[in-house]
Amino acid sequence: MPAMPAGQIRKRTAALTRTPAWRALTAHHKAWRDRHLRELFAADPQRFERFSAEACGLLLDYSKCLVVPETMDLLLALARERDLEPRIAELLAGKRVNFTEKRAAWHTALRAGEAAPHEVRRTLESMRAFAGALRKGALKGAGGRPITGVISLGIGGSALGPALAANACAADDGGIRVHFVATPGEPLARTLAALDPQATLVIIQSKSFSTQETLLNARAARAWLEAGGAATERGTHLAAVTANPAAARGFGVAPERIFPMWDWVGGRYSLWSAVGLPAMIAMGADRFDDLLAGASSMDTHFAKAPLERNLPVLSALTGLWHSDFHAMDTRAVIPYGSGLELLPAWLQQLEMESLGKGVNRRGQPLRHDSGAVLWGGAGTEGQHAYFQMLHQGTRPVPVDFIACRKPRAGTDDDTHTVMLANCLAQSALLMQGVTAAETEQALLRQGVPAREAVRLAPHQALPGNRPSSTLLLDALTPHSLGALLALYEHRTFVQSAIWDINAFDQWGVEHGKRLADSLLPEFSSAAPATAHDASTNGLVNYVKTKKP
Ligand code: F6P
Repeated sequence: MPAMPAGQIRKRTAALTRTPAWRALTAHHKAWRDRHLRELFAADPQRFERFSAEACGLLLDYSKCLVVPETMDLLLALARERDLEPRIAELLAGKRVNFTEKRAAWHTALRAGEAAPHEVRRTLESMRAFAGALRKGALKGAGGRPITGVISLGIGGSALGPALAANACAADDGGIRVHFVATPGEPLARTLAALDPQATLVIIQSKSFSTQETLLNARAARAWLEAGGAATERGTHLAAVTANPAAARGFGVAPERIFPMWDWVGGRYSLWSAVGLPAMIAMGADRFDDLLAGASSMDTHFAKAPLERNLPVLSALTGLWHSDFHAMDTRAVIPYGSGLELLPAWLQQLEMESLGKGVNRRGQPLRHDSGAVLWGGAGTEGQHAYFQMLHQGTRPVPVDFIACRKPRAGTDDDTHTVMLANCLAQSALLMQGVTAAETEQALLRQGVPAREAVRLAPHQALPGNRPSSTLLLDALTPHSLGALLALYEHRTFVQSAIWDINAFDQWGVEHGKRLADSLLPEFSSAAPATAHDASTNGLVNYVKTKKP
């Protein structure tokens, strides 16, 4: 994979907020914070050309961000001062960038084609053979009947990526339907009720093979297979993707049905590994290859493009500007048109697990904000729900709008154009707003009496100056989806490099898992819980006393 020259990564002693670039940005913010985007657009007719960039079939328009040319110069200077280019080179070379767990985060190697490590290529071949046989109806279940349904059991990074890719890019050939279940209990029961155990494959996706929720689901699914007459041939109804093959074998998965993961692939970066198997089954191996190729093209762009035209870098820097300098604590990700509904959930894990950190590499508390709260949903529905707050609420929320130039199969041109018009209208309105004077004039034109127009104007006016970026894909294809997801992975890395935090560990999550494990026996113990804080003890004891 082409990489930037490694250069030198300097040892840091000063806090980020004391660096010259940060101070310059602080002064710049003070000088420019009261300028309205409407004014900036009026003053610069070239704003779109100046603040947009294109790569890998994606256009990034960041002209509606709160920036002027000097802002971008200063943000780029900050990136250079933080040694961003050598840090990118380290990531792409598979260096141990996960410095608390002393591991690489080499997800880019999973999509490097011929340049990928041998074990990666071998695994892709076995996935391809397995998915191909399944899609052809050549994989037989109990009694020799072909497998026609697949359930993928996994959670977090072992579910969100493949579910998103399958939803966005499933082949339109009436092939195998893949059901994703993360939450134990009723969701699994409901899925199983609609399937025939003798014709179903259960794929257990868990890097650790120790995640409570996934194992609960796996045990329930195994019992369902057994009860449904698939017991003696259990091996033919189970598969696993894991970095813990011994545990998968112990569970009853046949060794040839265990697909490997490696410790150098983080859960939330694992779609490109065998964790993508359910997506490959849904979309077909060739389309999965396109997904990998799209991601790889973004890796090359990230490695080679100058920072000034580098999509992940530009997106990261404008995001950091809004969150750290304009104190915008949340960000909304709003895809338009169908197919990308699951993007916000995938991105929420990617960013909030990666960037939700409070100390830098040396363990010192950060003096600035790190990752923002990320939320979002399908734009068409959001417009009729939370967009009101985006337009008139007191807390400005920067938005990533995502749309496609061409419609998806199944959506006609006219319908698609309506969606696009809505997407562009929302970002324009957020940017320019509607002044009280404009509102008043509009009301008068409608024949509203003058006093009433004056009374209503402040209620109907929109402040505007609400920043957004728009990412326009040519069309929703496996290739463009791969490029989009890789863009976001790299955007996340850029911010972590500037903040000097570890984007690849998740100690908060690990502590939560451990505490849940230790709390579990309290529910079956005859004695009241006393070992925890008063609230937790109280809640456990309340549940116990109310049990029938
Ligand atoms: O809950 C967070 C997490 O640790 C993620 O990072 C990971 O993707 C998920 O759990 C699932 O873990 P596993 O693949 O080991 O079951």
